[in-house]
Formats: sequence, structure tokens, C-alpha cells
Amino acid sequence: MRRAGELLAAARAVVFLTGAGISTESGIPDFRSPGGVWSRHNPAKLTFDRFQASEETRRDYWRLAVESYPVLRDADPNPAHEAIVQVERAGRLACLVTQNIDGLHQKAGTSAALLIEIHGSALRAACILCRETVDREDLHQRLLAGEMDVPRCASCGGPIKPMTISFGQAMPEPETSQAFAAARAADLFVVVGSSLQVHPAASLPTAAVAAGASLVIVNDERTPKDRHADALLRGPAGQLLPRMLRAAGLGMP
Ligand code: APR
Repeated sequence: MRRAGELLAAARAVVFLTGAGISTESGIPDFRSPGGVWSRHNPAKLTFDRFQASEETRRDYWRLAVESYPVLRDADPNPAHEAIVQVERAGRLACLVTQNIDGLHQKAGTSAALLIEIHGSALRAACILCRETVDREDLHQRLLAGEMDVPRCASCGGPIKPMTISFGQAMPEPETSQAFAAARAADLFVVVGSSLQVHPAASLPTAAVAAGASLVIVNDERTPKDRHADALLRGPAGQLLPRMLRAAGLGMP
């Protein structure tokens, strides 16, 4: 913790990469911990190709979305999200790249200009053919009311999908290039709550280190990038991030 605090105190261009683990203390399950989303749903059945090809897959996908959307919509940021806002208010945040689709960084107060949602957002939905967006809350209410179980675009009849990046779907540009540019310009790269199993996001920490950044990993289990880290904080991010800020003299108000 002392080392992590020293690195943060000395840093002027911090880039954070957050994963689902930063939101579990807000009541949102992650993907790969025991009981996580992928222990209850098979990701191989929810790929973008299958979503495009099969009405049955779209039905399964929307059944999962009706369950998960209210949990994300009603969740509150936790002290880990708030600690990153504190780093921004101290003028040290260069960029926050999140793999999360829950909108909690925006809710906590992170500026949109510094936030990259590299896997999109579940709080927005659009037609995958004509890209027309639809109101996500209204769509949810209509699904709950049983008006339909597979939403279709009112303009072109195409399939509507939450604006998340599914396996097999193209990564968003310019967001992905911007994330790598920020990582390469960082003097400190901090990973919070990610198993670092999914690329290209999982390549960001090593891109940062290769360009000269220090690396801190805050996670409650080992990750494949631990050997590159200058400091490893093992445990709940909601407790460890505020402590890291206090160790850096950026104590929470
Ligand atoms: N504090 C710290 N770490 C935590 C906490 C917590 N409170 N809760 C969970 N973790 C850790 C877990 O131990 C795990 O290593 O966070 C990590 C979450 O890993 P994943 O569930 O794999 O989530 P993530 O890394 O964000 O997954 C990346 O995979 O399925 C895709 O698109 C999805 O964005 C997601 C991507």
C-alpha cells in the first residue's frame, strides 16, 4: 500500500482500467467469480453472430437483459468509483477506461470527456441495422408489460440490441485507439477489479508498462499481469482504493 501511495502521489497522468470487480460492492455481479454472470449463462450462446442469426438467441439475450438491466439502472457507485473521481478532482486523471456497462462511473461523477466505455453501455439500446437509438427505460417497461419479447426497430424492422460489445462484435473506434494512446502516455496505470482475461482491454496494462508507466493492480485475486505490477493490492476495491488515495495524500473529503 505504501508503494502504491508513493506512485500515485508522484503521478500526473493516471490511467485507470476498471472491470466488473469495481461494481460488485455496488451489488452488481461480476462475470468470472463464483456465482458470476458466466456461471449462470453460457457466453458462447450470446455471441454477436448468434444474436444476428437467431431469433431464439435474441429471445434468450433479452430475457437476460430484462433481469440485469434494473440491477444496473438502480445500483449506486461505491467508494472505489468515488476514489477515481477524487483522483480527477486532484487534476491527476488522464483517462478512465472501463470494461463495465453499468454507467456507475458517470453516476459517481467522472467526466464524460475522460471516460471510455470500451465495451459500451447496457443503459442504451439501438437497432443493429440502421443504428437508430431507442429509450432504454421505455423498452424495458414494454418488455416487462409483455408487449414483445424480441424488440425490433420501428424504422427499419431490424433487431434492437443493448449498446454493449458482445463477443465477436467489433470493438468501438475511436474509443479503443484512444484507450491505447492514453495507456502509452500514462505515468501510472491502475487496474481495478478485472481478471484481465479479455482482449484487447487486457493488453492495455502491458502497453502502458512498455511505454514506461508504473503499474498498480487492485484485485481480489491473481491476474495474468501481476508479474508486471510495481504494486499489487489484493482485496476489496471499495476499501483499498480510498486507502491508496490517503497513502498518496489525496485523502477523501
Ligand atoms: N474488489 C476487487 N476485486 C474484485 C471485487 C472487489 N470487490 N469483486 C470482484 N473482484 C475481482 C474478481 O476476483 C475478478 O478477478 O474482479 C475481477 C472481475 O473479473 P471478471 O468477472 O472477469 O470481469 P472483467 O475483468 O470486467 O471481464 C472483462 O469480460 O465477459 C466480458 O465484456 C465482459 O467486460 C467484461 C469482460
